[in-house]
Amino acid sequence: MSITQEIRAKLDLVQYISQSGVPLRKAGRYFTACCPFHSEKTPSFVVFPETQTWHCFGACSTGGDIFTFVQRRENVDFAEALRILAEKAGVQLQPRTPEQRQREAHLDKLRSLLNEVARFYHQRLLNAPDAAEARAYVARRGLSEATLVQFQIGYAPDSWSTVLDRLKQIGYTERDMLEAGILTRHDDSERVYDRFRDRLMIPICDERGQVIGFGARALKPEAQPKYLNSPQTPLFDKSAVLFALHHARRSIRESETAVIVEGYMDAIQAHQHGFTNVVAQMGTALTQAQLKTLSRFARRLILALDADEAGARATLRGLEAARQAASVERVFVDPNGALRESSRLNLELQVVTLPVGKDPDDLIRDDPQAWRNLVAEAQGVAEYVINTAAARLPANATLAEREKVARELLPLLMATENNLQQQANVQHLAYKLRLGSGKALLEWAAQQQRLKRIDRPAADGKPSAPAQPNTGQAALTLTAHGEALQEYCLAALLQHPNLLADVQRVFRQLINENAAAESALQPLCAADFTRPDLRAIFEVFVRARAQYEEDWLAYLEAHLPAELQPVLEQLLVAHLEAYEQRLRSATELYPRALSKDVATLREQVSLHSDTVRHRTALLHHVLLLRLARLRRESAELSHLMQEADEVRLRDYLRLSTVYLHAIRALSQAMHAQPILNSQSFS
Ligand code: UTP
Ligand code: MN
Repeated sequence: MSITQEIRAKLDLVQYISQSGVPLRKAGRYFTACCPFHSEKTPSFVVFPETQTWHCFGACSTGGDIFTFVQRRENVDFAEALRILAEKAGVQLQPRTPEQRQREAHLDKLRSLLNEVARFYHQRLLNAPDAAEARAYVARRGLSEATLVQFQIGYAPDSWSTVLDRLKQIGYTERDMLEAGILTRHDDSERVYDRFRDRLMIPICDERGQVIGFGARALKPEAQPKYLNSPQTPLFDKSAVLFALHHARRSIRESETAVIVEGYMDAIQAHQHGFTNVVAQMGTALTQAQLKTLSRFARRLILALDADEAGARATLRGLEAARQAASVERVFVDPNGALRESSRLNLELQVVTLPVGKDPDDLIRDDPQAWRNLVAEAQGVAEYVINTAAARLPANATLAEREKVARELLPLLMATENNLQQQANVQHLAYKLRLGSGKALLEWAAQQQRLKRIDRPAADGKPSAPAQPNTGQAALTLTAHGEALQEYCLAALLQHPNLLADVQRVFRQLINENAAAESALQPLCAADFTRPDLRAIFEVFVRARAQYEEDWLAYLEAHLPAELQPVLEQLLVAHLEAYEQRLRSATELYPRALSKDVATLREQVSLHSDTVRHRTALLHHVLLLRLARLRRESAELSHLMQEADEVRLRDYLRLSTVYLHAIRALSQAMHAQPILNSQSFS
């Protein structure tokens, strides 16, 4: 993790802005206030907790993250903002040590090792003669060819050293393989051998789709355990990972809903049938880390765990974890001395009760519609908890026993932000447990909540330190591809600084042709980079070029904070073709309609000479970069429009039209040869 990422992960933007004296008001999933950077009467300053970004949709029409906020608020440069925030986050500012760099390189190596192994297993499953039984198995379980490919499902041969030998051949050591969890060491003899043998291999990926471990299903009924998972490794922490999240992420964001199932097969089957917002928790109870991750994408979580007693217990444990995560309130004193709290984990929880003896895998295969209905009719958590508790309590339970159960359940029922809902829940509980009107229970609950607040006093009237650091990776909202795109653009500019002029000329030309979208087609600027380190380097680079044509690099090095030197070094030596390759393989950011034209463009590009090729590729990717930013901002805007009053709405509509116009212009420019073509510049 880079220093800026570390800082972003430790600090919460909403809290930081509140503490700096801007009175934020919660509105749906975001917070608003009158813009602290220009004077206004109605709020157009918006903070998005999910992406940890802010934007002023009013007169300043700028935005950014916690670093840009500090730069503007304190009127300081990036280096100073970095110092301020590092201190606040308790992060030591130091250039990366050689050891750290070594460690990162080592993790990268383990990653490529695992990807290599996954590819190998996958090929075996598709083609190898000894995988015939495994192929029959996946066919029996109804997995389609496309699903096998999508999930890179594989087969580990029934051998002690196939993987060991193969990886040795391509240069990996036994130590690497042990560390990556694909070998086992014999307790006594020190001998090492393949961990996975004669199993169906299910790669487990991180959020970005990089393989970090495996779940391995036994093929013979007598083989134990049924699923053999990768051990804990530097890359794989079972309690923090959600299976299939990289495939489900987009759909979860779109539907704002994540459905959580228990097993690998449940998730795979769901995806195969088009239920793409499903992830699996891999048998264990939901953990806080998993919830934190999901809360970045989803507003609603639906737990679909097994109907048996163990499943019910797991469900309750998951709900309890969710409640605890939800009540990491950040209590602090606002400038007027009032106690305030902010950024709760704002998740709605629901539960699906499966028919006894069936798991989602069976159910979806039998009758996808039944599954769809079940999910649509998911119960609210309160209802579920109350009904389960009531059903478990013996009919002759004493008053004391019933009260005890009620008190245990209360915290869960009070975990909602809505007062009325809390009261309704508690009344329902009281009714179900035959405890009168619920008034006594409510009073008791209110008292508990007051106690909890007093537990955490603010020290000295100053804004108190965060009760809990924001340990989730809230800041890591960019896709790997989005970051690669930014890195590539900046690296190409640093390596071919003359191209900056060409880039800016393209934007000016775009403005000429699309005057109505002028404000969204301004020349490439720092705001196009969302990663703070890249943004800071770009900013100084532009200044350096403007002031010191030839000596720009010396200026850049002299004016960059020491922490960013390593990043600069990397960019200066980055292998541009490798980046292009990576960007090419990741189609995520490319609008579907465009990809065909992009492909044609690339073919033409590769015919050109080297510099021309660089120029064309850079121009193309710079347009993509801007496109990504406009998409991001117009998505934010559309959130806002849902709640705006009429006056506001008119402004927002106008702005939204500008975005649309600019997006269209950029898309067209990416097809159009003249604008990207070298001839127009020479
Ligand atoms: P289940 O035993 O319910 O298996 O475990 P399943 O998903 O229905 O598996 P199939 O359909 O028989 O293939 C649910 C989840 O618990 C974890 C796995 O993640 C599994 O998907 N598990 C289960 C293990 O990690 N190890 C085991 O031995 C069993
Ligand atoms: Mn099953």
